[in-house]
Amino acid sequence: MSLQAILYTPTPPALQILDQLKLPHESVYVPICTCEDAYDAIKRMVVRGAPAIAIVAALALAVELSSGGLPSEVGESAGDARAYVHRRLDYLVQSRPTAVNLADAAGKLKAVVSAEAGTAEAVVGRYVEAAEKMLVDDVMDNENIGRFGAEWILENAKVGEGEEKGMVAVLTHCNTGSLATAGYGTALGIIRSLNSRSNLTHIYCTETRPYNQGSRLTAFELVHDKIPATLITDSMASSLMSLKSIAAVIVGADRVAANGDTANKIGTYQLAIVAKYHGVKFVVAAPTTSIDMKTASGKDIVIEHRPGKEVTNVETVATAARGINVYNPSFDVTPKGLIDAIVTEKGVAVKDAGGDFGLSRFF
Ligand code: MRU
Repeated sequence: MSLQAILYTPTPPALQILDQLKLPHESVYVPICTCEDAYDAIKRMVVRGAPAIAIVAALALAVELSSGGLPSEVGESAGDARAYVHRRLDYLVQSRPTAVNLADAAGKLKAVVSAEAGTAEAVVGRYVEAAEKMLVDDVMDNENIGRFGAEWILENAKVGEGEEKGMVAVLTHCNTGSLATAGYGTALGIIRSLNSRSNLTHIYCTETRPYNQGSRLTAFELVHDKIPATLITDSMASSLMSLKSIAAVIVGADRVAANGDTANKIGTYQLAIVAKYHGVKFVVAAPTTSIDMKTASGKDIVIEHRPGKEVTNVETVATAARGINVYNPSFDVTPKGLIDAIVTEKGVAVKDAGGDFGLSRFF
């Protein structure tokens, strides 16, 4: 059975998420009954990963609306219902700032309820249907990303000395798998696709300090799926690329700016530099919901800074000298010049002779 970060049933309306703070030690699902529950779970990273955050937020409001209906203080007209849905979505969007998927989902859901004339009940119905569809669509999108990405890598990655064409070893960072999405994953979806076609010799995953999404979550998924994998610390990537034949570094994205600059987990940028130096392809896997055409370039992306405790401690154990200052940006921006391909569910974007990814063609 594949891992599931999000468990949702429409009747009775119920949403549960796998508590990612407890992984890999314990697999415990926690109920999300309200938008406040979702906001708190996203902020504390009980659920994380750009697509998963968006889907949990969207479904939390669906559960709230379909189990309790509209609160009594909200009027009974369709306009009142619409205004209420907008307010709840605006609240949820504030939970984490960098990943654009949540804001993108909120914008789409607002448009769905705004298009609806008629009763408050109809507004709620339209909202719930659209939120549920996001859960289903995400898995399908990821499978397409997996297929397109695997094909692109097999065609474009260099073949190492003494290696068979069509067999690749890759490196990934952070967690972009079933735990970060509705299922299958983005970058990890490409890796799953390579593995299921028997084209994958090995995957290396970074530990991904400070929050350890690589060692706690990606390693957990790889062991669960029996994919041949090895964990490295973040500081081992350049040594690995100099000594082993790595066909591609494959990462996810929290926000791809219109020009292709990509915000992703802290440490992605240094991997892109190291990949360029070693002639290793650098591939970003991102659904089009992660592309923000309203943000021109990476310098306009807001980077979330997280509590210093994530750096000074591993889980509850302090590993740093007490009193030390801490710098903890959760994401960095990889300039488009270091990216070879952006793989979406609609196809693969590569730069033209002028260095333009032409991402507008996806919209
Ligand atoms: O802080 P996180 O764990 O939410 O960061 C996750 C990442 O950076 C992922 O690479 C990104 O969200 C893509 S997940 C498909």
